[in-house]
Amino acid sequence: MPENILVCVAWPYANGSIHLGHVAGAYLPADIFARYHRIKGNNVVMVSGSDAHGTPVTITAENEGVSPEEVAKKYQNEFLSDWDGLGINWNLFTTTHTKNHFDVTQDIFLRLHEKGFIYKDIMSQPFCEEHNRFLADRYVEGICPNCNSNGARGDQCDGCGNTLDPKDLIDIKHKDCESTPVFRDTEHFFLKLSAFEKDLINWVKQKSHWKPNVKNFTLGFLEGGLIDRAITRDITWGIPIPIDGYEDKRIYVWFEAVIGYLSASIEWASKTDNPDQWKDYWKEDSKAYYFMGKDNIPFHTVIWPAMLMGYGGLNLPHDVPANEYVNMEERKISTSRNWVVNLKDYLERYDPDPLRFALASIMPETSDSNFSWSEYVRRNNDELVATFGNLVHRVLSMTKRYFDGVVPPPKDKDNLDNSLINEAINTLSLVATELENCRFRKALEHSMSLAQETNKYLDDKAPWSASKTDLEAAGNSLYHCLNVINCLKTTFSPFLPFSVEKLHTMLGFEGSASDNGWNWNPDEVIPGQKLGEPKALFIKLEESVIDEEISRLGLN
Ligand code: MF3
Ligand code: ZN
Repeated sequence: MPENILVCVAWPYANGSIHLGHVAGAYLPADIFARYHRIKGNNVVMVSGSDAHGTPVTITAENEGVSPEEVAKKYQNEFLSDWDGLGINWNLFTTTHTKNHFDVTQDIFLRLHEKGFIYKDIMSQPFCEEHNRFLADRYVEGICPNCNSNGARGDQCDGCGNTLDPKDLIDIKHKDCESTPVFRDTEHFFLKLSAFEKDLINWVKQKSHWKPNVKNFTLGFLEGGLIDRAITRDITWGIPIPIDGYEDKRIYVWFEAVIGYLSASIEWASKTDNPDQWKDYWKEDSKAYYFMGKDNIPFHTVIWPAMLMGYGGLNLPHDVPANEYVNMEERKISTSRNWVVNLKDYLERYDPDPLRFALASIMPETSDSNFSWSEYVRRNNDELVATFGNLVHRVLSMTKRYFDGVVPPPKDKDNLDNSLINEAINTLSLVATELENCRFRKALEHSMSLAQETNKYLDDKAPWSASKTDLEAAGNSLYHCLNVINCLKTTFSPFLPFSVEKLHTMLGFEGSASDNGWNWNPDEVIPGQKLGEPKALFIKLEESVIDEEISRLGLN
């Protein structure tokens, strides 16, 4: 029976470009995971969209002198072309700025309000007397009480990643005029998180399959005690509060963005011939996986689950395989200092699969990791070109040379043949297990080591010399290599989707590389099958790329 798998990926703010840190942290692991499950034959829905509201977008709009809608639209278009270029395969990548999302959000707000999980209270908020308005979240800046860094914002400090409250900021200033705001009372709605504390602790404690860092962080967060949080703001860009009398306030961007997972599933289903099928993922037996960077963990392991518990009848997250951070050339990625590589710039210069490969190899699954251009070039040249690509090229061109590009027949298997075949069978199942457990680096290592083993087998069998004395023996080794390459096609396919399609055609098949599912038949490439033209799967990069790329970093 196919399983229902919901792949939820953090919604990028529609106010800036997607960079390689985002890709390695959330989008790539989610895509690899979704691709694997689709190949396996499971029912997969992968959703996200741009996070279009809140002060991140209004501040960018003000800086650029355009409307928040224009900013959100611009980045939505940029993201869509990013996904296309990198092969991130969504069932739906929407935005929070849709009528559907407004409706779903307001429904959840009202239901939680009716049940007493949302209540009104007075709170004190920074107010700028020069501008005569309240200053939500990112409109105030100051010194972070945790790490002392300058420029911490009212909602979060980029220095240490902690979420903040404006009251915490030392030397608080209105970002636009540098004046010191006063604190004034204002009425807001609060989410009664405290009501869910015990249920959340029990729920998280049962999650033995969660990564230790995600689970421990969450338990620490919960055991510190949950305080009710304001979920509305004094701003005008965002989703209106569905209760009269609050026309000049909006629902807090974090409260509504997480609802996007549900509303996007509903929107996805509405565009299919079975508009009710979102329920298969939210109400029936299904597993929901949430991919994100570590700064987003509490929103997905505490706040969103609390909202779902309060609402009732909807599935909670099954796993939250959050990643740590990727540094760039040993330094923390910083968009303001331009110490960053944006995906769209990468895609203008290079192919998608080498990046997918390089980032999957250093995915920050259990600790922060580092991207360097020298490592990128080395992995491309030594692993993709010299190991996998070269294997394919050698085997296909020899089959062309000695057998006119027609698959030769096998002979009785010897020990080397058998051990290679067993290695391939093992690899297929090892890679599956690693992928199911979101251990992407390991999965990739297993595939690469099968490619290495196959190269060794080829060196041992040396069909180039056998072809002169024993053509049948040469044919036998090429036959097994072709079939193991057909296995590598499957194990690499979640990682290198563009290249495996080319490989599939080169092996003489029609249709798509994923048509056979997550299976391997050691005799699928049959004698007599006509191979396609052998072409290079990957191209070697010049060493000069390294300096060229490093010199672009940090320029403003
Ligand atoms: N926009 C947020 C960020 O970039 C992530 C939102 S994830 C969501 O950090 F689930 F809330 F949508
Ligand atoms: Zn800090």
